Amino acid sequence: MALKRSLETNHSHVMGGGRGIAVLLLRTWVGAAAVAALGAPGGKPLAATPPMGWNDWAHYQCRYTANTILDNARALVSTGLAARGYDTVTIDDCWMQKDRDARGNLQPNPKRFPKGMKPVAEAIHKLGLKFGIYEDSGYATCGGWAGSGQPQGGGKYHFLQDARLFASWGVDYLKLDACNVYVPPGETKEEAYRKAYAAEHAALKAVGRPIVFSESAPAYFQGTPEWYDVLRWVRHYGQLWREGTDIATYHADHPDASRFHSVLWNYAYNLPLGRFQKPGNWNDADFIIAGDRGLSLAESRSQMALWSMMSAPLILSSDVAKLSPEAIAILGNRAVIAVDQDPLGRMATLVRRTGEMDVLFKPLANGDDAVAVLNRSAAALKVELRPAQLGFAATSACRLDAQNLWNGKRQSDVGALEAEVPSHDTVIWRIRASAACGRPTRTGTLTLTDNVRRRQHSLYGYARCLVPGSVEACSGAAEESWTVTPQGALRSSGGRCLAVAYGKPVMQACRAERAQHWRYTLLGNLISAADHRCLGTAGGESGSQKLALQPCGHNLPNQIWSLPN
Ligand code: GLA
Repeated sequence: MALKRSLETNHSHVMGGGRGIAVLLLRTWVGAAAVAALGAPGGKPLAATPPMGWNDWAHYQCRYTANTILDNARALVSTGLAARGYDTVTIDDCWMQKDRDARGNLQPNPKRFPKGMKPVAEAIHKLGLKFGIYEDSGYATCGGWAGSGQPQGGGKYHFLQDARLFASWGVDYLKLDACNVYVPPGETKEEAYRKAYAAEHAALKAVGRPIVFSESAPAYFQGTPEWYDVLRWVRHYGQLWREGTDIATYHADHPDASRFHSVLWNYAYNLPLGRFQKPGNWNDADFIIAGDRGLSLAESRSQMALWSMMSAPLILSSDVAKLSPEAIAILGNRAVIAVDQDPLGRMATLVRRTGEMDVLFKPLANGDDAVAVLNRSAAALKVELRPAQLGFAATSACRLDAQNLWNGKRQSDVGALEAEVPSHDTVIWRIRASAACGRPTRTGTLTLTDNVRRRQHSLYGYARCLVPGSVEACSGAAEESWTVTPQGALRSSGGRCLAVAYGKPVMQACRAERAQHWRYTLLGNLISAADHRCLGTAGGESGSQKLALQPCGHNLPNQIWSLPN
């Protein structure tokens, strides 16, 4: 952890030791009082581990009633999934009418909720589950129903009034979407969104009920430079946030259309955002559709393993009563869920990426580590991973005990992890390294995150790998592996360090000197400690690009890096 801190000294905020007390230095219109996080009773921060539960959207969209919701809530209990942690049932869009009542209150759609919302909330609570609801920070939801935000053209917000109503129903979780946000003249879109989310945060605080706050704001900036600015402020207001594209939804007219590409895409954009995440603040890669139509069992294992390696929220969106026993076994796998819910909450490091596979590594709270290998290809893949590739000491005395979390098989005292990974599957192990391995260093790829082309369904368009001297399409070559040292040096697999000499990035023998130290900022810049300029690439967006040292710009795509976590 000390090494992580040393690379993150450039943040414009200071966090208190435990979560829940955020001391923020904000220079904007947001008062400091409005941003202290509201903890759950007993001092435990809200969402100390990634939220888990169920939401109707990706399976039903607007085709549901109160009974659909309650049937799924009961199925969570009867399948045993609730007992495994899937405990929050959230009603997504379309629950409300287009107009408010005479007092300005939201009105549930009487066809879907003939007895109103309170009895539904009570029934969910009676099952021992928590109750979540959807609203929007704009004047209308994405479906066009009444939103909490300012009317088009300006006017009164309803955040506080709506938060009071939600609290009176017993809401425990709010997903606040961000369609149709009115941007007043003279304000930027980002300012308008920030005001709306700050207002909701203040409203939730004012009603005094611990309500987990899921923010959708960043998703409305994906593909723009402001994306990173929004990702920097959402953590001051809520516990989790959607950063991008929706996961593909189920459609009854083509139920078996593959949705695996969508799983891979959401995984690809979520993975480089580890620096924004910590207990109580989660990147949300969107719903778990594993087990539903459109994914094979292998693909379902992949989504569960990848989301768990990323400590992403696990919010199912399927018809729970129709899940097969195999699907329930995947979703309910205790050991995989424990990786997701690990108290450290670390994002996986991308250790290695080839055309066919990704290797991921994640340290766990009890000193174990988790390792996963995704096989994106159409054929089975044999893998062998040596401890040194994962950041452990390069000595034959380093041995691993490993358990494959899908089949429970254990390997003891091995010098390498070995598996054959079927097409589209993901193997996941929990490992314990012997004393000779030492603690793992932060080792893996150092990628340039190219967020410019939205909906670019190509992993290569999204993240490219640093090699000595340039940035290339990731191929899995040894020279794509780097170690971030506790002093903030970047050591290549060849044992040399990235340094600045005569104003240029060069590789040198590693020495403890400032010319080899880099400061990593929350916005993703690598700033030379000696030269104060940023590591970037020269030239266009694709192909091989030479490294350069440049004046630091604000959210320039050729200066935004993702490091081993
Ligand atoms: C957006 C969100 C989805 C869902 C719909 C509802 O697309 O990203 O998760 O809430 O709105 O309209």
